[in-house]
Amino acid sequence: MGQRHDQQTVKVGLGKRSYDIVIDPGGVQRLGTYCQALGLSGKVGIVTNPTVDRYYGASLRKAMVNAGFTCRTIRVPDGEQAKTVRWTSYILDQLVKHRFERRSVLMALGGGVVGDVTGFAASLYLRGIPFVQVPTTLVAQVDSSVGGKTGVNHPLGKNLIGAFYQPVLVLCDTETLHTLPRREWLAGLAEVMKYGVIIDKKFFAFLEERMGHLLDVKDEDVIKVVKRCCEIKAWVVAKDEQESGLRRILNYGHTIGHALESLGRYKRYIHGEAVGIGMVHEALLAHHLQLCSASVVHRQRELIQRTGLPVHMPVHSFSKLWAAMLHDKKVSQGIVHCVLPKSIGNVQVTPLEQRVVKRWYARGVNLPTRGPADAPFTRRSSR
Ligand SMILES: NC(=O)c1ccc[n+]([C@@H]2O[C@H](COP(=O)([O-])OP(=O)(O)OC[C@H]3O[C@@H](n4cnc5c(N)ncnc54)[C@H](O)[C@@H]3O)[C@@H](O)[C@H]2O)c1
Ligand SMILES: [Zn+2]
Repeated sequence: MGQRHDQQTVKVGLGKRSYDIVIDPGGVQRLGTYCQALGLSGKVGIVTNPTVDRYYGASLRKAMVNAGFTCRTIRVPDGEQAKTVRWTSYILDQLVKHRFERRSVLMALGGGVVGDVTGFAASLYLRGIPFVQVPTTLVAQVDSSVGGKTGVNHPLGKNLIGAFYQPVLVLCDTETLHTLPRREWLAGLAEVMKYGVIIDKKFFAFLEERMGHLLDVKDEDVIKVVKRCCEIKAWVVAKDEQESGLRRILNYGHTIGHALESLGRYKRYIHGEAVGIGMVHEALLAHHLQLCSASVVHRQRELIQRTGLPVHMPVHSFSKLWAAMLHDKKVSQGIVHCVLPKSIGNVQVTPLEQRVVKRWYARGVNLPTRGPADAPFTRRSSR
């Protein structure tokens, strides 16, 4: 396969289940060739939704047909409503009906919703058929398409039903991001910033410097960002595929973020927006616990505010917030395990007791005023 100068590859090292994340602007048109190079052939089921299909369905099908594949498009509804057992079952019905075989391919063309439900169906059909991710949102390119978490929602909770199932290829065509609604783009940037805070202070500084370009969706910077996020996620996943330790750090901003999403009934905020507020407030909590300096809070808040994403906590009683935090999957035996920053680029998983969080919350979750450059946390006389 001829290498293009602007094509980049990140490897996810998982032994026999290793795969490449290819970052290739315009790469949807070359997807047939990429799949051929992996030895794939025959039938391909392209799962997508009407919005994404309208933009990219035709060029993807053309690329696959030109490489000798037989395509079958499987449409699910737009939005989170497609992440159900029922839509998984619909995808499976189509695969059975059209006699998909063990070597047939299932492909997800869309955002995290399409990726999650498609990957789950691919893990189930004939106990697993090859699965290709073609993420078309920023969230999906930097996060959900990498790492093998697939699944759907239960009426009583999000992502409760699922499987770890790795794709054989992830193709991030960064040109598809040009049609993404502005709100989705900005929400994705919150997840991007998360990678800087959890592991890479240089990357965080790069984001501070280049945020203007990213807000304008400048290709060169977008490619750099997608690549760096994929490298970090790939590294974390290779070390801890099933989230028994290190992988938990990817949940930074998500303990409070998930709680806010659920308290807003998944209508008030889209995921990345809630994560942005979650990052600011988990940093504030870390500062309250004297784990980090005030500047760790300020730098995140400023960067998030520059994008126009919300940073303020909506009004909720503590008992409601805590109850929502307890519903998170990362809770074990009533203790909330929260990722808290020690500095930009370094976090730790901390068990949180209700009374500690309650005390912080009761003080008012206002942002501390800006202190001198990187002032250490201020020890309060009352402690
Ligand atoms: N599996 C994981 O590890 C993981 C990680 C993070 C998030 N997720 C899941 O991902 C989902 C959120 O994903 P998302 O933020 O991508 O949302 P999404 O899939 O709902 O996509 C957002 C919107 O953008 C539209 N869209 C997608 N690509 C487009 C494009 N190129 N141009 C125009 N419109 C486009 C979609 O139709 C949709 O309306 C949630 O269900 C979340 O639980 C999973
Ligand atoms: Zn997330």
